Amino acid sequence: MSTPTKIILDVDTGIDDALAIGFTVRSPMCELIAVTTLAGNSSVEHTTRNTLDVLNLMGRTDIPVHRGASHPLSRTHVDAAYWHDENGLGGAKLPPSPAVIGADRGPAAIIRLAKEFPREITLVCVGPLTNLAIALNVEPTLLDLLAGLVIMGGAFFEHGNITDLAEFNIYCDPEAAAQVFATDYPMVVVGLDVTRRTILHRTSYLATQSRSGEHEPGARLALEVARALFTQKGKDEMALHDPLAIGAALDPSLLTYQEASVEVGLGEADRGQTRITGPGKIKVANGVNAEAFTQLFHERMGLDWQRGGMELALGE
Ligand code: RIB
Ligand code: CA
Repeated sequence: MSTPTKIILDVDTGIDDALAIGFTVRSPMCELIAVTTLAGNSSVEHTTRNTLDVLNLMGRTDIPVHRGASHPLSRTHVDAAYWHDENGLGGAKLPPSPAVIGADRGPAAIIRLAKEFPREITLVCVGPLTNLAIALNVEPTLLDLLAGLVIMGGAFFEHGNITDLAEFNIYCDPEAAAQVFATDYPMVVVGLDVTRRTILHRTSYLATQSRSGEHEPGARLALEVARALFTQKGKDEMALHDPLAIGAALDPSLLTYQEASVEVGLGEADRGQTRITGPGKIKVANGVNAEAFTQLFHERMGLDWQRGGMELALGE
């Protein structure tokens, strides 16, 4: 029996961040040793509150939460309230967690734990890369202390989602992303090119909602945070951006990759654009077994998986 993967999740909780947290704690091969938060989808106050409450709903108030960056390195914070609502959690009001945040701040916690568990921890970043950039600045040997790094971010082969060119996490703090990609560390980068293929569809949401009896925590979480999208905003699907980053950390064979060097647009016209500039060590995901991951996600979260929704989403 192989040992569980030690994971630190760096989040801007957010609807799909919440699902990534739920998926992580419901995955027996994951040991979530800490969650660090930052400004992204919403303010760091909201993303930290949301993270505490998501872990509480999942029955995991034992997992430490460390508040991190309150704004990008050098830009004014742009949030994603248009999708995640003002509170960052789709307007969901979860029972308040009794837990409080950990003593040290996000970047410090990442450094401390990487030194405590050298080459054992996979850091999974599913928000802007501000915390990671700060940690790298303070501790330049950090990447050598990790077992791996997975980033949800970028749009390499198709259009962005916050502008035509840029994906939100990179756009929000392009300088931080540029510093991280400049390391040419063999990180895995899971961009919109693959995350858009992994979908929670409204048909699955409604089938789960209509199921009688007590829902298990993962399903309760999904029903709460995705409610507004599917029942008020008329959405038919939501991409599992952040959960797929956990999938990549758990089972890299779920995706295929191009090894590349990556640069980030820092101008006003190309802010946050992620460009492959040639060969390198960064593993940019260019394909995904969407059905395998989507089914695994639904099973782990206790959601009804309606394959029909999958065909609709993939236009089959
Ligand atoms: O572009 C998708 C990413 O931006 C996800 O991490 C989502 O939570 C938002 O942060
Ligand atoms: Ca996120």
